[in-house]
Amino acid sequence: MIYLDSAATTLQKPESVHRAVAEAMATCASLGRSGHAAARRASEVALSCREAAGRLFETPPEQVIFTFNATHGLNIAIKSLVSPGDKVVISGFEHNAVVRPLHALGARITVAGRKLFDPADTLSDIDRAITPDTKAVITTHVSNVFGYILPVAGIAAICRTRGVPLIVDASQSAGALPVSLQAWDAAFIAMPGHKGLHGPQGTGLLLCGRTPKPLLEGGTGSLSQLPEMPDFLPDVAEAGTHNVPGIAGLLAGIRDLQQVGLSRVAAHEQAMIRRLAKNLAGVDGLEVFSGESQAGVLSVRSCMDCEILAGKLADADIAVRAGLHCAPLAHGSAGTLESGTVRLSVCRFTTGEEVDAAAATLQTICTQ
Ligand code: ALA
Repeated sequence: MIYLDSAATTLQKPESVHRAVAEAMATCASLGRSGHAAARRASEVALSCREAAGRLFETPPEQVIFTFNATHGLNIAIKSLVSPGDKVVISGFEHNAVVRPLHALGARITVAGRKLFDPADTLSDIDRAITPDTKAVITTHVSNVFGYILPVAGIAAICRTRGVPLIVDASQSAGALPVSLQAWDAAFIAMPGHKGLHGPQGTGLLLCGRTPKPLLEGGTGSLSQLPEMPDFLPDVAEAGTHNVPGIAGLLAGIRDLQQVGLSRVAAHEQAMIRRLAKNLAGVDGLEVFSGESQAGVLSVRSCMDCEILAGKLADADIAVRAGLHCAPLAHGSAGTLESGTVRLSVCRFTTGEEVDAAAATLQTICTQ
């Protein structure tokens, strides 16, 4: 199979991730609950993972929270900062993991920066949209549909100047581009463990620049005599038993990434997407969404229904994702809400031969 659906989840995991999950299943109990050897091993795995993530994302380890996925982290972040009726500014490329919690809260949402691959417009529009009553700015780092790299450092600088907390959705950038809690001075940065970090599904991280409100209440193994949740990190946001095998796999994924080097990964993914865009540029009847500031994600559309086109690719054993990608806002911004798109996304294991073969197959399908 040619796997070009890494924006949904990376399928290829380093061998060390498989091994770490199996070893943790066999040897680790629950962290922070008991003093026996199996519980201590679990605590060591969790601490090592917080430390490794802390180094990668320039965050103190105790401010690294384990979540089930990026959606979980975004819910914690949003519900910590936003109350019903509050005004929030979001980019035009947000996923439903941002839009739906805000909608459920009854927040007043201002969408700013809807031009694809136009960082200057994104910055000026977000700056214009912030008013004294804005409670938070929320931006994705990389659009999960189009791969557009939003100018997060610039957005962070605007938020600092205007005194507005910033939430970053790093779902498509963690493990592919530099992400830093310290440099951006963000309130929260949410990310999955199962995409660019090559960990297992069911893992995620929330980097906390401030203490969040608990989304779940329950046992933490600390201050058990109290009916309330502890108010300190990381316990305030980690009720219930942890996914220790998942955390062990995530740790192995982060270590493997650090060995390879983030800059090499970023260069490889961008080279693969440029190669794909170049190969597809001349295909008759195919619209290719590509631009300067683009990470490892690319959308296309043709006159064929996008689900049919993706089905034909699947028949050729090429895995992609079609439709709205849980991001109708992004599609609305790019003018593809009615049609949807077919999305091809790469990871550091994608080869040039694979993207060439996918492009050739698309060409054959579109010219039939
Ligand atoms: N949000 C993920 C995607 O873009 C699952 O496919």
